[in-house]
Amino acid sequence: PRTIYLTRHGESELNQQHRIGGDPPLSRNGKLYAEALAEYMDNENIPDLIVWTSQMQRTIETAAKINAPKEQWKALNEINAGICEGLTYVEIAERFPDEFAARDQSKFYYRYPGGESYQDLVARLEPVIMELERAENVLVVCHQAVARCILSYFLDTDAEDLPYTKVPLHTIIKLTPMAYGCTMECIPLPI
Ligand code: F6P
Repeated sequence: PRTIYLTRHGESELNQQHRIGGDPPLSRNGKLYAEALAEYMDNENIPDLIVWTSQMQRTIETAAKINAPKEQWKALNEINAGICEGLTYVEIAERFPDEFAARDQSKFYYRYPGGESYQDLVARLEPVIMELERAENVLVVCHQAVARCILSYFLDTDAEDLPYTKVPLHTIIKLTPMAYGCTMECIPLPI
């Protein structure tokens, strides 16, 4: 049976400052994760592995050291937080209290002004998921919100729960599609 490997990028400089969005490079810890991930994946000796990243530098950098062909998908880019890009959640609550409350009310349907909702993201990811269904062994290096959407497709999570799924940094999620549903294994990599 084939395996879908899923991971977020390594810690970025903005993750370190608790800021959302942007196109930051990896932090020092993030670079260590990129090394640990390459070592893990190379040791697994996965037949015909291909690696998909977004077009953001933090995923490209995270995948760079893995010894396998890579493909970049714009559709895998992180949720666009519009006017909130680059802010911390505290700053969003201070500057845009109504937006902050609206998102808290309905996180799946809430669309950032000038940006996207989780619902938008699910639609944007449809072509990626169709290809994932057809692909053999693949590692998807993506982002928190994107990983939640992909997981929810394979695990059949409800829309209300989807935006709250825990997807920790520096962890590989192994999905093995079965006749009905999918098994999941989480592998945190020490850095
Ligand atoms: O903080 C990292 C990040 O990937 C942001 O870029 C993104 O806006 C956020 O996570 C998505 O998570 P949530 O929907 O919980 O804000």
